[in-house]
Amino acid sequence: MRILSGIQPSGNLHLGNYFGMIRPALELQERGESFLFIANYHAMTTVTDAARLRGLTRDMALGYLACGLDPQRTALFRQGDVPEVHELAWLLSCVTPMGLLERCHSYKDKIARGIAANHALFAYPVLMAADILAYQSDIVPVGRDQKQHVEVTRDIAIKFNNTYGEVFKIPESSIREDVAVVPGLDGQKMSKSYDNTIELFGDMKETKARVMRIVTDSTPLEDPKDPAQCNIFALYKLIATEAERDELAARYRAGGMGYGHAKKALFEIFQREFEPIQKRRAELAANMDYVEGVLRGGAERARAEAVKTLDAARKAVGITGA
Ligand code: ADP
Ligand code: TRP
Repeated sequence: MRILSGIQPSGNLHLGNYFGMIRPALELQERGESFLFIANYHAMTTVTDAARLRGLTRDMALGYLACGLDPQRTALFRQGDVPEVHELAWLLSCVTPMGLLERCHSYKDKIARGIAANHALFAYPVLMAADILAYQSDIVPVGRDQKQHVEVTRDIAIKFNNTYGEVFKIPESSIREDVAVVPGLDGQKMSKSYDNTIELFGDMKETKARVMRIVTDSTPLEDPKDPAQCNIFALYKLIATEAERDELAARYRAGGMGYGHAKKALFEIFQREFEPIQKRRAELAANMDYVEGVLRGGAERARAEAVKTLDAARKAVGITGA
């Protein structure tokens, strides 16, 4: 079974990325051959500064490796090191109905937020389809917001196969429903666009201050509280052990515990979980030759697959001879 996913290097990693995408991807690497890439071509739709794009790409590689990615089992690479996906994207474009792209939420949302539409933003799902199909992936772990893009990929692959013969495997998305949407400080979806994140590699003092900013209701300290309605608890339960979770839930229900206490408990388990990961990241950052070697090795493995798929697709459409 082949597992593939990508992440845009468009900002600092936060708990939403960690639980919604990195952790599920790392768990899946136990189950099969895994490909993970840093989507630097896709990031160009929002990042227009070259040094920043390079820096964010590097940060993302460090982040994955620090979080436990095993480069022996997972090919970690930069999307831009596999230029074959662009030719494949063109071949796929030719069987992609306009209406399919016009219906994509992420494009419509960006337009609604006033981001000027360029062609890349519109064609984004076709490049994503090329990413997925180039490696003949079976499973694509993504957050719920990317599910539609994987469905678009399936539609495009089916249309291509029906038109030209079986070239692509039809992939499936994998979404962990229990952590599908990690809430941010304000209770909305945690997202770098809303300034409501808890960053994985932020300064601990700053992280503590942000935890203290988590929005709660005004239930008095002595009253019982419902953990299921609380933003602090929603984050706590993701990091905590089962016993810790049950214990804090019982304290909520018993009354006599203020939200300040829950925030402190959340910060403590955050520190326990992420301080070692931060340390690993610092060690890797001091050894960039190693990181560069991992990325190059990953790209070589990925590229070998992409070349094979592109070759089959070129033949199928008649660009090259049979
Ligand atoms: P952001 O919303 O901060 O811009 P991205 O869109 O770059 O984050 O998300 C990268 C990956 O992390 C995607 O697979 C996305 O689904 C996942 N993800 C981001 N935020 C969350 C969240 N709050 N809950 C669950 N998954 C998330
Ligand atoms: N669009 C994805 C995101 O914003 C990143 C991405 C690009 C991706 N290509 C992909 C994810 C292929 C999975 C598979 O998170």
